Amino acid sequence: MRGRFITFEGGEGTGKSTQAAMLALRLESFGLGVLLTREPGGSPGAEIIRHVLLSGAAKPFGPEAEAMLFAAARNDHVRCTIEPALASGKWVICDRFVDSTRVYQGTLGAVDARFIKALERVSLGGLNPELTFVLDLPAEIGLERAASRRSGSNPDRFEGEQIGFHERLREAYLALAASEPGRCVILDARASKETVARRVWDTVQARLKPAMAPVTFENLAS
Ligand code: TYD
Repeated sequence: MRGRFITFEGGEGTGKSTQAAMLALRLESFGLGVLLTREPGGSPGAEIIRHVLLSGAAKPFGPEAEAMLFAAARNDHVRCTIEPALASGKWVICDRFVDSTRVYQGTLGAVDARFIKALERVSLGGLNPELTFVLDLPAEIGLERAASRRSGSNPDRFEGEQIGFHERLREAYLALAASEPGRCVILDARASKETVARRVWDTVQARLKPAMAPVTFENLAS
């Protein structure tokens, strides 16, 4: 049976990586096969492109060129990592995916929506997440959290943008999530990580109904 595909999205410092890892552990604890991955990156080719993008080396070429590089990385990631895992029945949990390009390069970078769509057609090959968690936090708090996590090292290409950029980013994520309520769930990331994790778990159970009852004598007998 084909696996399921869940993504985490949101601005800087919203706790996506923590929540993705907590969900992966929880699914594993029920004996399910899980692949935890992230973007940009997640395959050897895409990790190389990640360095180009996050160092800011591609910034002078403009947001269209950056969108193409994110799409190239995504294509490699989908073909080499995500699709094989789904085909083998694994649950794939991805920290950022296609919505990041829609929001960062599309809305914030003002890249034409038709251009973004065309890149998606080429890079995704029809793949779409079934469920996307959008972690929502005031930009100021997110940036503080991201800075304390970095502990002194320089912000990357996107973290280094002005506060106004991050506020607009938050609005763009909320608008995107509202436009696709069947797939996207907005979670208040000001809550404790345990509370957010519980909401994630409740949603996964309600929407994707994983067959994960712990093995008991009664289950085996029925
Ligand atoms: P990363 O170090 O993974 O940070 P985070 O913890 O915020 O996810 O950096 C990824 C950065 O790249 C992040 O600032 C968002 C940006 N990005 C895009 O602009 N477009 C994309 O398609 C993706 C996947 C990421």
